[in-house]
Amino acid sequence: MASESFDLVVIGGGPGGYVAAIRAAQLGQTVALIEKRSALGGTCLNVGCIPSKALLQSSHHYEAARHEFAQHGIKVGSVELDLAALMARKDKVVGELTKGIDGLMKKNKIVRKQGAGRIAGLGKVAVGDEVLNAKAILIATGSEVTPLQGVTIDEKQIVSSTGALALSRVPKCLAVIGAGVIGLELGSVWRRLGSQVTVVEFLDRILPPFDAEIAKQAERLLARQGLAFKLGLKVTAAKAAKGAVALTLEPVAGGAAQTLEAEIVLVAIGRKPYVEGLGLETAGVKLTPKGFVEVDRHFCTSQPGIYAIGDVIGGAMLAHKAEDEGVAVAEILAGKPGHVNYDAIPNVVYTSPEIASVGLNEEQVKAKGIAYKTGKFPFAANGRARANAETDGFVKILADARTDKVLGVHILGPSAGDLISEAVLAMEFGASAEDIARTCHAHPALGEALKEAALAADGRVLHL
Ligand code: FAD
Ligand code: NAI
Repeated sequence: MASESFDLVVIGGGPGGYVAAIRAAQLGQTVALIEKRSALGGTCLNVGCIPSKALLQSSHHYEAARHEFAQHGIKVGSVELDLAALMARKDKVVGELTKGIDGLMKKNKIVRKQGAGRIAGLGKVAVGDEVLNAKAILIATGSEVTPLQGVTIDEKQIVSSTGALALSRVPKCLAVIGAGVIGLELGSVWRRLGSQVTVVEFLDRILPPFDAEIAKQAERLLARQGLAFKLGLKVTAAKAAKGAVALTLEPVAGGAAQTLEAEIVLVAIGRKPYVEGLGLETAGVKLTPKGFVEVDRHFCTSQPGIYAIGDVIGGAMLAHKAEDEGVAVAEILAGKPGHVNYDAIPNVVYTSPEIASVGLNEEQVKAKGIAYKTGKFPFAANGRARANAETDGFVKILADARTDKVLGVHILGPSAGDLISEAVLAMEFGASAEDIARTCHAHPALGEALKEAALAADGRVLHL
């Protein structure tokens, strides 16, 4: 069989890989996309962003119907959970979106190859019995769950996020290892659906990369909702028996070990790069000490002609960061100045309320020795938040004390994940807090809290 030739062969059909393929095709390149799953969309669409948000939304409605409708004067009879229907809706959403990506591939004349891709020499990628010739190869193979020593994931009693997205019944008790994004989002889902959820965290705080003040307040709110936090403890062993798992928790600061029993345990201590079977060693592609594919500013690996993007190169392991890198690398390959501004990548946790941030947090500003000012505004003083009965949380803006340039924006509150876009755009344009403060915001809108926080940075807050 004559082997096919392409300008670009992408390995991995997640948000990094499929977006790179689309942008390259838009720029006139011939592109093949190799994905080993039957569905495109990668971790994000199949077992990540989308199914988790579908479950968060459904569980939010369940909680609202049981506990929040009454304050709006809405009486409902007994509220019942149909977990099978809830899961079926999630699967339907995933199915529709992944099929949508198939359509995008067709529209852009991208040749889809199903199977595991392996670099088979300079400009060659093997998939099944075929070898494709490639002017450029793009590695976009993503990440996988970080395992925890002494705790074996069986996706039944001890699950990763993938198992936790598909439990067939609501566990009485769920222990979550890791108070990061997955722990808090999926912990919230199962708590809302009726589990007693205990989150065990190694550090003495939750959500390590987020602003400490925001994380502390989020911890209080989530604890008030019923999530139990056990901080400063490391899980060293898990013993699974029929119907229960016993976890051994050792205080990080030393002292006697404790035991925590749960019906289901979710391991969520981070993700690591996935490069299995790619043949990187033979191809001479270097990895960093942590196992990520090493790239330069143009996403080129140690081997000319081989590029990498997304979770597999590290940095923020986020779908939108992978997508932006996909666009940038395709543009670079087409001779354009593709670029990603890593200082303005938003980070959102879809708990209730949501948590969103962009730029530096207060600890980072201090560590850099930058003279700064802070502006804060609580949602309790925002008219729309009060009308919506969603008054928890606040907006915090950090601005350079000398130049007023926005250094970071942190939001804990309703729709924080959408509100942060304004702050991202402001930072992308190098805006000052004054720029945000002088921008007309619709009333009544949650976004007015951002404007008020910007005013507060200059001591001119209006509604407080
Ligand atoms: P991936 O999406 O992991 O895609 C890589 C693809 O490559 C996979 O489909 C894999 O099958 C394929 N592959 C691997 N090796 C080969 C090979 N040799 N040949 C062929 N194919 C191969 N991020 C957000 O921004 N927002 C969120 O709300 C969010 N929620 C998440 C929730 C969960 C539970 C999880 C686990 C992650 C979440 N993420 C979220 C992170 C997000 O999913 C990742 O950052 C994103 O998917 C990374 O994209 P990628 O293209 O680099 O890799
Ligand atoms: P994470 O890095 O967000 O959090 C892991 C947590 O586990 C940290 O708080 C860490 O201190 C803790 N930890 C580490 N080892 C531990 C141990 N032995 N015992 C107890 N705690 C321990 O990782 P997580 O939640 O697994 O998510 C993985 C990735 O997926 C994240 O990097 C995130 O970017 C992405 N993601 C993004 C989402 C979003 O954008 N909304 C949603 C879910 C995941």
